[in-house]
Amino acid sequence: MTTATTSQPAFSPDQVSVVFVLGGPGAGKGTQCEKLVKDYSFVHLSAGDLLRAEQNRKGSQYGELISNHIKEGLIVPQEITLALLRNAISENLKVNKYKFLIDGFPRKMDQAVSFERDIVESKFVLFFDCPEDVMLQRLLERGKTSGRSDDNIESIKKRFKTFEGTSMPVIDYFETKSKVVRIRCDKSVEDVYKEVQDAIRDRL
Ligand code: C5P
Ligand code: MG
Repeated sequence: MTTATTSQPAFSPDQVSVVFVLGGPGAGKGTQCEKLVKDYSFVHLSAGDLLRAEQNRKGSQYGELISNHIKEGLIVPQEITLALLRNAISENLKVNKYKFLIDGFPRKMDQAVSFERDIVESKFVLFFDCPEDVMLQRLLERGKTSGRSDDNIESIKKRFKTFEGTSMPVIDYFETKSKVVRIRCDKSVEDVYKEVQDAIRDRL
């Protein structure tokens, strides 16, 4: 007998609420997420942070692969990132936390499709639209103290290239579904945050 496989997401958007937070490297995603966590009951999951933690986890079979991808500004194979996110979501559900800001994900079309097919459909996408020269200055400044292997000019150029070629199509895809809330972010952290609050007020 053959069985048709109808794959269902693990959760419905009524049970689990996910907002994707996207934008180029240095656009201020993490900074704005921290502010949102303080004012609303979100859990902040940064895909980059989860990957860096896995990279540094003793005994991880993916440490070296992740480290190489990050340095080269390349997107880590989706299976790894999806598993980390799925895990983090499950852990939070155990303690009754259901609202997530997922920062820096999906960065590639396959991640967008897989996540929404297998885990849960997103509510909307917060997109921090930032000129490259502003992002470059911020990343170089951050690089003085971040200790990150990719906050240097060689890696930054590669990350910009990946953003344009691989991640922007994800924004375009969600635009076709009218799910993108676009925030201009070449201004102060506080002014950007005001715009974020105005933009999401009606959507939460
Ligand atoms: O978001 P963040 O700047 O911390 O991401 C750092 C790096 O982690 C990216 O440049 C990329 O190499 C990797 N990453 C990824 N897939 C994601 C998010 C981050 O491969 N969804
Ligand atoms: Mg970040």
